[in-house]
Amino acid sequence: MLAVSRGSVSAVEDRGDSPPHFCERPSSAMVQRRVLLTSVVASTCILNKAAGFVVAAAPNRGVQSRGASCAATRSHAAAIPMSMVASMEKSKLLSTVDVDLGDRTYPIYIGEGLLKDGGLLLKHVTSKRALVITNDRVGPLYLDDTVQTLRDGGVEVDTVVLPDGEAHKTMDVLMLILEKALTCRLDRSCTFVALGGGVIGDMVGFAAAIYQRGVKFVQVPTTLMAMVDSAVGGKTAVNHPLGKNMIGAFYQPQAVLIDTATLRTLPDRELASGIAEIIKYGLIKDAAFFEWQEQHMAGLLERDAATVSEAVRRSCENKALVVAADEKEAGLRATLNLGHTFGHAIETGLG
Ligand code: GLY
Repeated sequence: MLAVSRGSVSAVEDRGDSPPHFCERPSSAMVQRRVLLTSVVASTCILNKAAGFVVAAAPNRGVQSRGASCAATRSHAAAIPMSMVASMEKSKLLSTVDVDLGDRTYPIYIGEGLLKDGGLLLKHVTSKRALVITNDRVGPLYLDDTVQTLRDGGVEVDTVVLPDGEAHKTMDVLMLILEKALTCRLDRSCTFVALGGGVIGDMVGFAAAIYQRGVKFVQVPTTLMAMVDSAVGGKTAVNHPLGKNMIGAFYQPQAVLIDTATLRTLPDRELASGIAEIIKYGLIKDAAFFEWQEQHMAGLLERDAATVSEAVRRSCENKALVVAADEKEAGLRATLNLGHTFGHAIETGLG
C-alpha cells in the first residue's frame, strides 16, 4: 500500500532484523476502524495504479542539466538579507519539529510559502556554492524559485534535472549528480539541495553522503509522502536489480524544509499515497492521531491547508521520535516499514 506510487522496482525490502515494537494495544473496534480506513486508502492507491493514472505534469524530457555552465565563484553573504528575514516573518511558518540526534540535530520546518520566502533555506545553505537537484516534473514548477532564492542570498548555484520515477533511482542516474558536481568543481564545502519527492531525496542524500566523503544537504520534499516519511530520518539509497534501496547510507540532512504550498500541484494519486503514510503513524504509534485522522479525513482529501499542515506536523513528530530513538533501525524504526512489504509486492505484481 504505502509504496504503490513509488514505482515498480522491488524484490527485497530495507528492513532491520528485529521485530516491530507496537507501542500500544488498540481496542478491537479501533482495529476494525483502522483496517477499514487503511483499506480505503490502499484501494485508492491500487486502483489508481491499475488504471494507469496519468500523473505527468510535464513530458518526460530525459536526463538534462540546467544552468549550462558552472558560474564563476562569488562571495556569499553569510547573513540572511534583511529583506528575506522580513519576508520570512510574513510567511506562514506554522511549526518546527526537531530531529534530536545530539550534535547532528536538525529542524523540520513546516509552512506555507517557505520556498519562495527563502530565509529558512538560506539559513541552512551556509556554503558559497550549492547544487540543486530535482526531476523533470518538479523542476518546471519549483526549480526557478529555489535557484532565485539561493542566488538572492549570494549563493552560487548549479542545477541537475533528472528523469522522474522510481525506475531512475539507480547508480547510473546518481552518477549524473556526482559528475555534475565534479564538472563544476564543487568542493567539500558545498551544499546539495534535494528538491522533489522520495526518489530525489533518497538519491541526493546518498550522493551527498559519498561526494568527496560527504557534503551537507538540505531536503526540500514536494510530495506528501516525502514530507511525512522519506525526507526525514536520513535513509538514503538507490535501488539495485536484486533489491530496493540496497545501496545506500544513513546520512542526515542539515534541515528539512516543507513548503505545504507545493502540495497544490500534487496529483491525487500521490496525495493518497502520502495520506497512507500518515495513517501509518496512527496505526503503529499514535492512537490519538488516528482518531484525529478519522475526524479530518475529508479535509485531508480536499487539501485543506491547515488540516494538511497539522497532519504533516504530527507525522513528523512521530517520525522524529522514532528516528531519535533508533536512527539505524536496530529495532523500533522497523515499525515504520509497515505496509511497505505489501506495497512492494503489489508494485511487482502490477508492474
Ligand atoms: N521509511 C521508513 C524509515 O524511514 O524508517
